[in-house]
Amino acid sequence: AVNLHGRSLLSLVEETPAEIRYLVDLAHDLKRAKYARQERQMLVGRSIALIFEKTSTRTRSAFEVAAADQGASTTFLEPSSTQIGHKESQKDTARVLGRMFDAIQYRGDSQETVERLAQWAGVPVYNGLTDDWHPTQMLADALTMAEHTHKHRHETSFAYLGDARNNMGHSLLLLGAKLGMDVRIGAPEALQPAPEVVQLCQRFADESGARLTITDDPVEAVRGVDFVHTDVWVSMGEPKEAWDERIDLLLPYQVNAALMAATENPRVRFMHCLPAYHDAHTTVGAELIGRRPELASGVEVTDEVFESAASIVFDQAENRLHTIKALMVATLV
Ligand code: CP
Ligand code: NVA
Repeated sequence: AVNLHGRSLLSLVEETPAEIRYLVDLAHDLKRAKYARQERQMLVGRSIALIFEKTSTRTRSAFEVAAADQGASTTFLEPSSTQIGHKESQKDTARVLGRMFDAIQYRGDSQETVERLAQWAGVPVYNGLTDDWHPTQMLADALTMAEHTHKHRHETSFAYLGDARNNMGHSLLLLGAKLGMDVRIGAPEALQPAPEVVQLCQRFADESGARLTITDDPVEAVRGVDFVHTDVWVSMGEPKEAWDERIDLLLPYQVNAALMAATENPRVRFMHCLPAYHDAHTTVGAELIGRRPELASGVEVTDEVFESAASIVFDQAENRLHTIKALMVATLV
């Protein structure tokens, strides 16, 4: 039987396929209970620390609402109001917060920081995104894909296009490898997953029966898939100057109507962890689309695809709530 009590979630490398499935199934149950107004509070009186060294809309909101739904309280800590890493070591911060809180969420640049917090806090630590991994997003993506297909997990196929060397590219490769899925990465060589990550994922794929394909051909990547994922082409913490080079490299991987048609699957669904540059209604989106007309109506995804019936991005965003709730319940009860 699966028992996640007291466990941290740092990357998804440590979690077994059964543990991942358990969290996704628990999230499904908690979602149904909330919809039926039959949610039972299992975290009454618990306190969760939320450390955000990078900005967030979904992850922070999901932790705060999930905690409130379950009767727990949250404390939001941002770098300008804490001492972490500047005036106080990560190790000391971890030991202090571990005395006051029942769990700690950390979002920031460095995977080392979240691992050090977990090593010293004595309570579960959740990685809410680092430069390397985005594991809580993976729980939501797994739930969302399960909700939108009748296929078994090991029959499900998805493609991820764009910057595949970032936290999302690596995490989706790992998720698919663990769950035995048919995973296609479409990216130019310079932005394909790091070799050590591919090697690690291939080991998990050998155990699960997953098929991992990494190609620079976007059409080959998407042919026949159930889901097409993408993510921003320049991530938080990367220099703005990276944009022009990335656009040159990644334009063939833009998720547009032609690429969705190239799946040859009329039931294909589009996914994106968000935030997305799909129109000119953000400062960055407006600037990029204005400066590079070849982008047409969006950057990594066109507005047409983003707003189409195939797009399930808001189900995916909502599922951050139910899956983060499942993570807290599974590790704290
Ligand atoms: N997908 C995601 O992590 O969104 P936020 O950056 O808004 O938390
Ligand atoms: N790759 C993106 C994901 C945002 C949720 C970033 O790190 O900015």
